[in-house]
Amino acid sequence: MAQVDHVIAQRLDSGVPLVAEVARYIISAGGKRLRPVLLLLTCGALGYTGSQRYNLAAVVEFIHTATLLHDDVVDESTLRRGRPTANERFGNPASVLVGDFLYSRAFQMMLSADSMRVMQILADATNVIAEGEVLQLMNMHDASLNEDGYLRVIRSKTAKLFEASARLGPILAGSAPEIETACAHYGQALGTAFQVIDDVLDYDGNSIEMGKNLGDDLREGKATLPLILAMQRGTPEQSRTVREAIETGNVDRLSDIVAIVRDTGALAATRSAAAAEAQRAIDATMQLPDNAYRTAMVALASQLLDRRT
Ligand code: IPE
Ligand code: IPE
Ligand code: MG
Ligand code: MG
Repeated sequence: MAQVDHVIAQRLDSGVPLVAEVARYIISAGGKRLRPVLLLLTCGALGYTGSQRYNLAAVVEFIHTATLLHDDVVDESTLRRGRPTANERFGNPASVLVGDFLYSRAFQMMLSADSMRVMQILADATNVIAEGEVLQLMNMHDASLNEDGYLRVIRSKTAKLFEASARLGPILAGSAPEIETACAHYGQALGTAFQVIDDVLDYDGNSIEMGKNLGDDLREGKATLPLILAMQRGTPEQSRTVREAIETGNVDRLSDIVAIVRDTGALAATRSAAAAEAQRAIDATMQLPDNAYRTAMVALASQLLDRRT
């Protein structure tokens, strides 16, 4: 991971001072660097030790960071990684344009892998993330969104990049197709569980620990799984309160909504759904060689369920 951070620092350079300033601002705030971790773990599990893994790990982190810069503009978020968001600090135009810089820098960097497969995985992932964010935009304030509709959004906007990151290990290692598929399933299931927990934390988390504001999802009228399940499980009165909150995006009743998602058991059921996805990720690892990296992949999937950051 230190090597990855080294590549990241080197490749943020730009002759345009504002580019480097904004990019460094968000990247130096940290973040969990989970997508690079996935890539390095799958490389480790499959025995690839070449230096291209550091380059591609930096690539997936750049793509992730670009999505965050754009996402915080779209979501009008003001806090990220414990700091004012880039849009809050530098404005929307700088955030959007530096997001574009990071996407395109990532594409410059991936050329050095000299692999059409690598290009294809990353081009497809980037495209699907954009589709997922647009799909979510279309679903805003739609209280009739069901679990399938919700799942489609999060598989695209979040799980796809986890999937791509986990798939790059076997591609670099030249592994058999069934190993590549197992890694892709691992990444997809892990990414889905990760986003489901993120959606729980928007109601049940701590802003200081998360470095993000709570209630952002409700303000945007996002029908995430805790709300979908609360409407299914609640009394007619509770369901109506949740539905109206989604339709209006009114956060005045955030504390009522938090009570409803808790009292109806919707939060617990959402956590169970994440646990089922995490188990799917763990099952997929059984196809991989039994070594310390595989063990770490299993541990990551179970620890993610208790994450608070
Ligand atoms: C945030 O991702 C966006 C989601 C997919 C929920 P992370 O929680 O991985 O963000 P950082 O990089 O650790 O800040
Ligand atoms: C994040 O979705 C997904 C992407 C950035 C593509 P969210 O909007 O739920 O993530 P946070 O809560 O802002 O990190
Ligand atoms: Mg957001
Ligand atoms: Mg969120």
